[in-house]
Amino acid sequence: MFAWITTHPIAYPVLEIVHIVGIALLVGNLVALECRVFGFGRGLDLAALGRLSLTLALSGFGVVAASGLLMFASQPQELLANRAFTLKMGLLMLAGTNAALFHARGGLVRLDRIGRVQTALSLGLWLCVIICGRWIAYL
Ligand code: HEM
Repeated sequence: MFAWITTHPIAYPVLEIVHIVGIALLVGNLVALECRVFGFGRGLDLAALGRLSLTLALSGFGVVAASGLLMFASQPQELLANRAFTLKMGLLMLAGTNAALFHARGGLVRLDRIGRVQTALSLGLWLCVIICGRWIAYL
């Protein structure tokens, strides 16, 4: 049903561009919030920054997921056989679980040692997702 996307002259590149815009929104806003968690920009109210950057980050994830799933649907067999893709999906689930646990335990309010470890882990995981995403094309 979606195979036409890979043969269409611009559909796939446009989806990749939308994917990159979503990544910038998602990861850019998480980095800003996580830097505040580590004490940078102390003048910024954490709760207000949290509301803004998490709203933008979640919107970014929506854009990334929609464009990514369309690209996936255009060539599912090839991508499921691609180790960079499957590793990326695994890391994506780890990053999502870490974020859910962080917010479930009130990470932005508690700001304790576990919260900071989870914040550092989040930065590392999203970076690894980006690395795997880029590597898909080389495997
Ligand atoms: C449901 C979630 C996602 C799916 C299904 C998905 C799927 C894909 C697919 C199919 C590609 C194209 C691979 C290719 O043909 O070269 C891709 C590329 C990429 N993805 Fe994702 N992705 C998702 C989420 C993410 C997230 C959250 C990030 C980063 C935080 C990310 C980073 C990348 C990068 C950097 C590329 C390479 C883009 C390019 O070179 O143009 N993806 N993704």
